[in-house]
This record gives sequence, structure tokens and C-alpha cells, in this order.
Amino acid sequence: MTITSEPLTTQGAAPRDLAALGLRESATFDRATIADIQRAAATGVYDIRGWGAKRQLPHFDDLLFLGASVSRYPLEGYREKCDTDVVLGDRHATRPLHLQTPVTIAGMSFGALSANAKEALGRGASEVGTSTTTGDGGMTPEERGQSKHLVYQYLPSRYGMNPDDLRKADAIEIVLGQGAKPGGGGMLLGQKITERVAGMRTLPVGIDQRSASRHPDWTGPDDLEIKIGASRPYYDTALAVKSGADVVVVDGMQGGTAATQQVFIENVGIPTLAAIPQAVQALQELGVHRKVQLIVSGGIRTGADVAKAMALGADAVAIGTAALIALGDNDPRYAAEYSALGSAAGFYDDFQDGRDPAGITTQDTELASRLDPVAAGRRLANYLRVLTMEAQTIARACGKSHLHNLEPEDLVALTIEASAMARVPLAGTSWIPGAR
Ligand SMILES: Cc1cc2nc3c(=O)[nH]c(=O)nc-3n(C[C@H](O)[C@H](O)[C@H](O)COP(=O)(O)O)c2cc1C
Repeated sequence: MTITSEPLTTQGAAPRDLAALGLRESATFDRATIADIQRAAATGVYDIRGWGAKRQLPHFDDLLFLGASVSRYPLEGYREKCDTDVVLGDRHATRPLHLQTPVTIAGMSFGALSANAKEALGRGASEVGTSTTTGDGGMTPEERGQSKHLVYQYLPSRYGMNPDDLRKADAIEIVLGQGAKPGGGGMLLGQKITERVAGMRTLPVGIDQRSASRHPDWTGPDDLEIKIGASRPYYDTALAVKSGADVVVVDGMQGGTAATQQVFIENVGIPTLAAIPQAVQALQELGVHRKVQLIVSGGIRTGADVAKAMALGADAVAIGTAALIALGDNDPRYAAEYSALGSAAGFYDDFQDGRDPAGITTQDTELASRLDPVAAGRRLANYLRVLTMEAQTIARACGKSHLHNLEPEDLVALTIEASAMARVPLAGTSWIPGAR
């Protein structure tokens, strides 16, 4: 969102100074809400933005690990192994993907992202032996060329759908929904539809594009990796399994997007934390947990998040927003330019505008050329290594010789909400609200 007008009484003042003046911010009409109303009143159109949900939601931060002590035995960091690899697709696939880390790169489209950004994602992922994924907009030669394991998305929009590219893929992901907008279609505004982007999607140049909300080739469970936006993950996962999927991707409501209506991002779907146990329950009841792999995405930032998702039953995770930040998105060195766009480093979410100073969410040739795909790919690889090592260090502390051995029994919750959603006990008790 771009700030179009300054809040009347708060210009430039830090919240502490305002409190000292005796001013009290309304919890219901906080400054972001006031700015939203002012923006809507001034423009008459709803807000479209990138990024994921920004509201406070029950999340992985609300869980803690119970490290080993006397009743459990931790592993020695230097002497005892803790493996991190994962095989995706060992149910039906003739060539399953064997990844060295369970942290994969989520599907993000060429069009939303620059060709350099897509190339950098491929470089970073390949350096650490993980996969990257195409998106609405098809497969670019830069991305295919630099990606050791490339997952090809087959989307509701069918944009960029090309049988030759399907054959070049290492796996296929049928997208039925996205966490940021379950039930809703994506957008790519005209300013990002350059000749190259238009050519790949068979669309006119410069005209706003709205993707389909539902997959035209999906009328029931007849079809394969399947990605769903988390709203009813128990039933959706069961249907995905019945359809023969090797892998199910569940994307929680914190999941990032390139451009979606804000009202959708903040109000539709369920938090990632609540989605995982439901998906795991469906897999367990069908007897395929750990046979059909579960990839979880939506708000994964740290190795602790990775370890928590896996302890709850995921086989791997996917990251979008965090990968973009690692490439250089929202970098403070562009602070002046973010400010000129009415935003700030750390707040910039106007991915739809195509004016990203970091050269990532843009099709502008000058801006895109600012991103060096080799250096950005290296930053992403560093970040992926850190996530993996952080998850590994937690697993060792819980006495686990593989990340997959983490289990709900290793976790407790800090809040009643998180306890009920994640189905792990409230810290210091044996109570799980709602458990029978
Ligand atoms: C810039 C951007 C573009 C995206 N494009 C697509 C897409 O083309 N297809 C898709 O299924 N998901 C897309 N997504 C969603 C991601 O695949 C993923 O579900 C989400 O980013 C995960 O949440 P996280 O960003 O919190 O890691 C996009 C996300 C971002 C940030």
C-alpha cells in the first residue's frame, strides 16, 4: 500500500511522544485502518498489494521446542549426524526429487518477478540442492538453465502453459489455490505486461490481467504435486491424495502474493499453523503420511519455523517472501527510493506497480538490471543454508538424527489459540483445547 495522505494528528511523531501528549490510538481505528479508509475515500478503488497477511495471527512464534535433558538425549553437534534431505514423490513418480534440504522455493511467476530474479532463485536453490518452481507466466530459459530441480506449475489461468516446457520440468505442480487468496484469482497489472511477459502468456501488452479463480481442468479428484490455499485443508488434502498426487502443498493465509486485493489477503483462509494438523490428519487417516509428502508454506522465515512445521508433520516447506528478501527485496540501501514511492524499506508491498527499486518485482529494464542474479543467488543460498542449519541444531537438541524425526511431542504452545490449532499442549500443562 502507498501512503497517500498523512494521518492528521500523528505526522512524524513517534508513538511514544504521542502517548506522552496524552493521545491514545484506537485499537479498532488504528493508523493503518484510518489510512485505508482515507485511501478508499480518495480513490474509490479497493487496495491491491503484494506480500502476505500483515495482521497478527497465531503462528510458529507461538510454539516452543522441548529440548532434550534427562528424560531425552540430545545429539552432539560435531560428532553425531542429523540429516536434512528429503525425497519428494516416492509414491508414483519414476524420478522422485531428492533434495538436500527440506526448504524449497515456492512458485513465483515471471511477470510478477523479473527474469533476473527468477534466475537468481534458480541459482540459489541449485547451490544448496533444493528445488525452485515456475509460476503464472511459464518457464523462462534463464530459470530452467539455472535450476537443478525445477517444478513446473500448471495453473488455473493456464498462462505460459506449454507442453514443451512441461516436458522440461522435473516435477509438475497443479495449482488449485494460494494461501493469500483461496477461491480468488491472481492479478498482473498492465504496467508489468511487457512484450516478453505478454508473449509468454498470450495476452495483449499493457492491459491488466486477472487470472482464473478456479482450475478449468479440475472438477474433482481425477488429476497429480497439488497446491491448495488453506481453507479446508482436511478435505482438500484427502481429495488431492485420492487424485493420485505424490505431494500436497498447503499454503496458509500468511502466504505471500504478487498482487491481490488486500481485503482478500487479510480475511480469507486459515493460518498456516491451523492448516498443518488438518492436512496431516487427512494423510494419516488415509495411511499415506510420509508416503505422500506434505509441503507447507505461508510465513516461513527461520530455521525454527522450518523445524516447527516439520515437527507438526510436514515433510518440507516452501518459501516465497523470505526468498525475495534474501535476494535483496526491501533492502535499506534503497530507502530514499522506497520513500519517494510513498513507502519505506521493510514496508514496501506494491509489487503490482512494477517500480521496485531492488529490481525484483518489476519488468522495467533499468530497475531489473540492478539485480545481479549471481550475487543475489549467492545471498539466497547463504540464507537457505542458515535455515537448514538452524533447523538441524534444533533437531539435534531434541535428540533427532533426521529433521523428519521431529514430532508434535517435541512442541508446546504459548497460547491457548496456538495450542488448539497446532494440537500440542499449552506449555507447562498437558492440556490441548478441543482434544478428545
Ligand atoms: C511475488 C510473488 C509471486 C507469486 N506468484 C505465484 C504464482 O505464480 N503461483 C503460485 O501458485 N503462487 C505464487 N505465489 C505464492 C507463493 O508460491 C507461496 O505460496 C507463498 O509466497 C508462500 O508464502 P511466503 O511468501 O510467506 O513464504 C507468489 C508469491 C509472491 C510473493
